[in-house]
Amino acid sequence: MSDVIPFSTALRERSSAAHSSSEHSGFMSDLMTGEGTREDYVALVAQHWFIYDALEQAADRMRNDPVASVFISDKLTRLPALEADLEFLVGAQWRESIQPLPTTQRYVDRIRRVGTTWAGGFVAHHYTRYLGDLSGGLFIGRLMQRRFGFETNGIGFYLFDDIADPKAFKDVYRAQLDAAPWDAAEQERVVDEVLVAYRLNTELFEDLARAKSAA
Ligand code: HEM
Repeated sequence: MSDVIPFSTALRERSSAAHSSSEHSGFMSDLMTGEGTREDYVALVAQHWFIYDALEQAADRMRNDPVASVFISDKLTRLPALEADLEFLVGAQWRESIQPLPTTQRYVDRIRRVGTTWAGGFVAHHYTRYLGDLSGGLFIGRLMQRRFGFETNGIGFYLFDDIADPKAFKDVYRAQLDAAPWDAAEQERVVDEVLVAYRLNTELFEDLARAKSAA
């Protein structure tokens, strides 16, 4: 008998303060409360493109890794939806008109460095984005839809057409986290990398706010 809490629960608890900081960053709360503009939303979508490009390239590299591959699912793939959103929001020339902000570049570099060589690091970045997208993300998508009058064009990123039951999907994901063959030291490293991922997300919101006030 063991009273050790499941790793997925420990991970959520250990990262809940970092989650709060991300969730309540000024740029995000402005978008959520209706003070953010359509341009702010588009700026966020553009930064997501660089992040998911790196994350989904890392997933391709890790597809044959025995630990990481368990978490990889085509149902999660966001890049095609982001590209369709940008085409709708920015126009056919979207690729030439977007650039990574400094934090986005650091985030991308981090995903490329740890997420293509270390299964635990890959899972940390994968978890932080996709489990968030399947949680608060669904709510954010509906809010942006109402706020900016989108139908599905423009918010495709938040629509997981191939995941009918996000809660069930997340339960399976958490069971997979619990079953990962990581000892306590490795679990600790994964938690630390999740905290890095949250910090990068929070700093990205700060970059977005700075870029906005500079404009
Ligand atoms: C306005 C912004 C946000 C809101 C309103 C929000 C809201 C939520 C809510 C309500 C949950 C819990 C869902 C559940 O119990 O199943 C959740 C979970 C989560 N969120 Fe967020 N969130 C926001 C921003 C973020 C950001 C920026 C990230 C990181 C990129 C993030 C990552 C996560 C993750 C990884 C989980 C799953 C935690 C777990 O169960 O292990 N969230 N979010």
